[in-house]
Amino acid sequence: MSDFYSLTIDKISQLTPNSVAVSFAIPKELEKVFAFEAGQYITIKHKLEGEEVRRAYSISSSPQDKHLTIGIKKVPEGRFSVYANTSLKEGNQLLVMPPEGRFVYKSSDLPKKICAFAAGSGITPIMSIARNVMESHPENIFVLVYGNQNKTETMFRNEILQLAEDYKNRFSVQFVYSKAREEDSLFGRIDTSVVNFILKNKFKEIAFNTFYLCGPEAMINLTSETLKANGVPDDSIYFELFTASENKDSETLTLEGKTRVEVVLDDEVHSFIMDKKTSVLDAVLNEDIDAPYSCQGGVCSTCIARITEGEAKMDKNQILTDSEIEEGFILTCQAHPVSDTLKVDYDDV
Ligand code: FES
Repeated sequence: MSDFYSLTIDKISQLTPNSVAVSFAIPKELEKVFAFEAGQYITIKHKLEGEEVRRAYSISSSPQDKHLTIGIKKVPEGRFSVYANTSLKEGNQLLVMPPEGRFVYKSSDLPKKICAFAAGSGITPIMSIARNVMESHPENIFVLVYGNQNKTETMFRNEILQLAEDYKNRFSVQFVYSKAREEDSLFGRIDTSVVNFILKNKFKEIAFNTFYLCGPEAMINLTSETLKANGVPDDSIYFELFTASENKDSETLTLEGKTRVEVVLDDEVHSFIMDKKTSVLDAVLNEDIDAPYSCQGGVCSTCIARITEGEAKMDKNQILTDSEIEEGFILTCQAHPVSDTLKVDYDDV
């Protein structure tokens, strides 16, 4: 079951003309439930004009902070993001699912040299990771490369400059602006030339251990390819998509016919028949089964379940690894049955 808790907003601050930081007070009795790792996200459930919307937002605060803060950027036609930027007030309560997500920084006893590439609101989980990296070891080093249109649209700009001030020799930032030329910033987008400049020129003396990438898919693909071309191993690159492409990995939408499905959730078994064209998650929700989900777009990982019998194919997947897929894991929001029977277990993940 997807558990939601009512949390009170105790602070809203304007980050840019189109984005806000929303901080929740976590009551003592929920501190354990809402403990998180740097890089994770929460899901908010809210009724707007009588219709339930769920949205996932990355946490920007450090796990050591007293508050849990998220960044919400207004997106065109984004119902909840527009509401949050225009109508949400301090003191309001929202229904929030506890933190989850696999894009995390794990602190270590050994000093780490981390480089992060973020674009737009993709900065949000990187803020949490950067803060945690700085706090968790006195010799950790963090380089942030951050792309935006201009200074005004740069979320968390003041907080980033403050980190650079607080951790003078350990935290560095390279701003990249696509629509403004500024002193000490690069002009353009985060692309091959920017990545090469960071690795081979500006920070060439730093042997980075790990890279975190967060932003639109095209930026992540290009950055990751350029890192690999520079000899960075695959397993040193972590990424989180903030917008997914429309590309589908399979041809499952052409599927015809029906499948008998058995779903295990919270130790209860539900059986029903579904169209192969429908996603497993949509079919489960149509049956009024309270399965966990958030983005419904293959971007978060809230809807993961395991296939225990039968076969399903995903429209797209950039989250699960090949070995996880072999073990039977699926993103139910992207999965369509291809066998005539399918057993799916939400508890065994
Ligand atoms: S609900 Fe986000 S990946 Fe399925």
